[in-house]
Amino acid sequence: VEESISVSAPGGGYDIVIAPGLLSSLSLDPAAHNLAGRVVIATNTTLAPLYGETLTTALPDAALVTIPDGEQYKTLATVSRLYADFLAAGLDRSGTVIALGGGVVGDVVGFAAATYMRGVRLVQIPTSLLAMVDSSVGGKVGVDLPEGKNLVGAFKQPDRVLIDPGVLATLPEREWRCGMAEIIKHGLLADEKLLDPALHTAERAPELIRRAVQVKVDVVQQDPYERGVRAHLNLGHTFAHAIERVTEYQWPHGEAVGVGLAAAARLSRRMGLCDDRLPQRVEKLLDAIGLPRRTGGLDSEAIHEAMFTDKKWQSGRSRFVLLRGVGQPAIVEDIPPEAVIQTLDEIR
Ligand SMILES: NC(=O)c1ccc[n+]([C@@H]2O[C@H](COP(=O)([O-])OP(=O)(O)OC[C@H]3O[C@@H](n4cnc5c(N)ncnc54)[C@H](O)[C@@H]3O)[C@@H](O)[C@H]2O)c1
Ligand SMILES: [Zn+2]
Repeated sequence: VEESISVSAPGGGYDIVIAPGLLSSLSLDPAAHNLAGRVVIATNTTLAPLYGETLTTALPDAALVTIPDGEQYKTLATVSRLYADFLAAGLDRSGTVIALGGGVVGDVVGFAAATYMRGVRLVQIPTSLLAMVDSSVGGKVGVDLPEGKNLVGAFKQPDRVLIDPGVLATLPEREWRCGMAEIIKHGLLADEKLLDPALHTAERAPELIRRAVQVKVDVVQQDPYERGVRAHLNLGHTFAHAIERVTEYQWPHGEAVGVGLAAAARLSRRMGLCDDRLPQRVEKLLDAIGLPRRTGGLDSEAIHEAMFTDKKWQSGRSRFVLLRGVGQPAIVEDIPPEAVIQTLDEIR
């Protein structure tokens, strides 16, 4: 069964279609999915043999272009290569780019589509759990600079997002867990049902994805340009980004988010926003999923220090998304450094 979620966005809305089997059934109907003009499928070298070739069978007139796999290729150099590939494929302003892959492909190919000839149509086909529930929705695209992650980008609403949960069969376990961290985040922010372990299985993936996508859709519709409530999506991420920075990005993002959620729940407790049950519940869930909830001995002061280089704290004041309970996020500023450091010490 195909399910569809309509998103309203600046400059027109789009549909997110969850269609199990879409990529394996070859039933992709170009007209039904806004695939106008010349079509270029852009993917990476891992996904091209898995799903790119199937897609080209379904869309025989489309060109297939590939980029190398990895965050280290989410760069302006890759964008420039993509422009050259788009030109060579004869893509003009009436054409469509399909970004087929995880968040890296979605971000870098999306940015190329946003800027090539001042913007061409973009269809996102996210293949990682994280990309399905997080990065493909909301219109943020971009690349990293040597100085830091996601420092260049644009808002580019897709014309469609196509999700085939079937492709998760080939997703590495560790990547599944990383996507689960964001789903737990969405559950804590706005949908308690997402915290039910019964839903955390491959068989229930379509429902899990639908509910998790809905949380992100509700937030970005209210705040497409991240001026207000969209900040709630940073739950756990102030801690996570700091952990990623002090470990020089050796920690996968989702694992850092897991620890970050545990830290945010404990800090909420410490600040008197909630009682012990919330951090206990979060940590129990992280254990069940196999996500870490401790920093593994990282220096708490160093993590705290790293928070002040967060681009979201440019004013120099601390700013955390905390929880009064499930579904009750709160933005709290100027938390005493001791409270943050003691929280980190607790989960060393
Ligand atoms: N734009 C946004 O709003 C937003 C939000 C969150 C994250 N992001 C970005 O997303 C990126 C992380 O995305 P990610 O976690 O998807 O990482 P990723 O794109 O690197 O994918 C993880 C790995 O899984 C592989 N893979 C993906 N789908 C697969 C499948 N079905 N079968 C087999 N292998 C598969 C990829 O090739 C890659 O090796 C980061 O760059 C982050 O900044 C963007
Ligand atoms: Zn994240």
